[in-house]
Amino acid sequence: MDVISTALELRRRLSREAAIAFVPTMGNLHEGHLDLVRLARERGSCVVVSIFVNPLQFGPSEDFDKYPRTLPADCEKLQGLADIVFAPSVGALYPEKQTVFVEPPPIASELCGAFRPGHFRGMATVVLKLFNLVQPHCAIFGKKDYQQLNIVRQMVAQFNLPIAIVGADTARAADGLALSSRNQYLSAEERKAAPKLYSTLQEMAARLYAGEKNMEQIQQQAVQSLAAQGWEPEYVAVRTQATLAIPAAGEQKLVILAAARLGQTRLIDNLEVCL
Ligand code: PAJ
Repeated sequence: MDVISTALELRRRLSREAAIAFVPTMGNLHEGHLDLVRLARERGSCVVVSIFVNPLQFGPSEDFDKYPRTLPADCEKLQGLADIVFAPSVGALYPEKQTVFVEPPPIASELCGAFRPGHFRGMATVVLKLFNLVQPHCAIFGKKDYQQLNIVRQMVAQFNLPIAIVGADTARAADGLALSSRNQYLSAEERKAAPKLYSTLQEMAARLYAGEKNMEQIQQQAVQSLAAQGWEPEYVAVRTQATLAIPAAGEQKLVILAAARLGQTRLIDNLEVCL
């Protein structure tokens, strides 16, 4: 496995590869990330994993500085799974101040985007840069970040990028909590309470499967139930899978998405519902 930190070196190393499968990450890898890398292995003869904590997608009051950076441990986890780790410095990926951005689609200002202004613009911009550097034929993204996956799909379609985007299921701890690098911010007590986010989504899904139609009420009660247990919910929303629009009556492919703070930690999760 080669660990590469400059664009030039990456270009040179990739010039001999044909079928490149790519997994972009911010590092601090867990089993969810490694699932993506395993999927990439099935899709390409050369697997590239990028590890880059992208300043452009963090707001001024967000956790860019304290985001866990664990490159040596990450490389160890990737041994035998990836062929190339691309881990540039901020200066190597942004040699000059970035003044050109990907303007993401309107959905980027809803859901998470309503609480993280500029996040999806920064995400889409770095993903496009990474796509241009790696030139993969396929890239794997987790459904854990459902809105991100949707925006990447729209960018790839509308910019005519010849890259197949694959969505991977969310890896969870045994108690249901979606694996996330941010879980380590949780205190022991918060960690015990954290599965409540996913169980709330499951309860909402059960009501939809039982035929309940009043989405507003289901959403509001979920928000209240989280708040009653000390969470600060940002949003809980039932949307359509394909476009993340508010579902019309009779829509069958739904996804319930939620973001909520537990203490200082912001957690997100989602659950697909097929009626
Ligand atoms: P990061 O949060 O490191 O996630 C990298 C990839 O791993 C994303 O596609 C994310 O959806 C996926 N992932 C995270 N947790 C997962 C889980 N529990 N199960 C399955 N997949 C999971 O997402 C980013 O980085 C960045 O925004 C990035 C796309 C790299 C651009 O900077």
